[in-house]
Amino acid sequence: MRRKIVAGNWKMLGSRTENAALLDALVGGLNADTVTCVVCPPFVYLHDVWRALRDSPIALGAQDVCAEAQGAYTGEVSAAMLKDVGCEYVLVGHSERRTLYGEDDQLVARKYAAALGRGLIPILCLGEQLAEREAGQSTQVVGRQLAAVVNLCGVQALAGGVLAYEPVWAIGTGRNASPEQAQAIHAFLREQVGQQDAKIGAGLRILYGGSVKAGNARELFDMPDVDGGLIGGASLKSDEFLAIVAAA
Ligand code: PGA
Repeated sequence: MRRKIVAGNWKMLGSRTENAALLDALVGGLNADTVTCVVCPPFVYLHDVWRALRDSPIALGAQDVCAEAQGAYTGEVSAAMLKDVGCEYVLVGHSERRTLYGEDDQLVARKYAAALGRGLIPILCLGEQLAEREAGQSTQVVGRQLAAVVNLCGVQALAGGVLAYEPVWAIGTGRNASPEQAQAIHAFLREQVGQQDAKIGAGLRILYGGSVKAGNARELFDMPDVDGGLIGGASLKSDEFLAIVAAA
């Protein structure tokens, strides 16, 4: 059995006051020791959140990482720094980074390598745009995004990370992929990896993200290749997020 993961992506939202209230509710309300729970706040709040979570089973993650190890990269944050402030996880290649900040497959792959090299668990986000889905290119797109990481880092590197399938048309839209649509892509991704290494394919955790909420989490998580969720909007509401963790 693959242990499920539920990760919250707080995006560029929240404040110290709001975070404190949310974390209080999460730490007090979480009673799922069979699920790995992660929260990914903005960089500036990582230390605060680490303090709030250090005696809890909830793990800390960041939303992005620099592909370079250190140096003159104004505004960037390295994998070593994330590790230094207590992060265990980091998102790489979130669709908002890819589309709004021009991150291409090669840069995302370098970020994956940088994170893994510093002992972080990268959560590699993959997903097609609506036009790509309508053109029947979903598997081609996620296959290409995955291949960039495998080509740079080797298939072994997937044993140290997590995948998150997030169809772009489902993110923040209230329109989630159906369980069958998610399952089809997850099965495809697992098969792609399994062809290169059966053991890594079988053990790979593949999260679904895109308008997951308490009301649809269970049917998504019940799919055989869906190993949890990457939650945006609903991760900022403690009751919703706890219900999603309970569904996992
Ligand atoms: P959403 O976002 O749950 O608000 O759709 C998911 C994500 O961006 O990771």
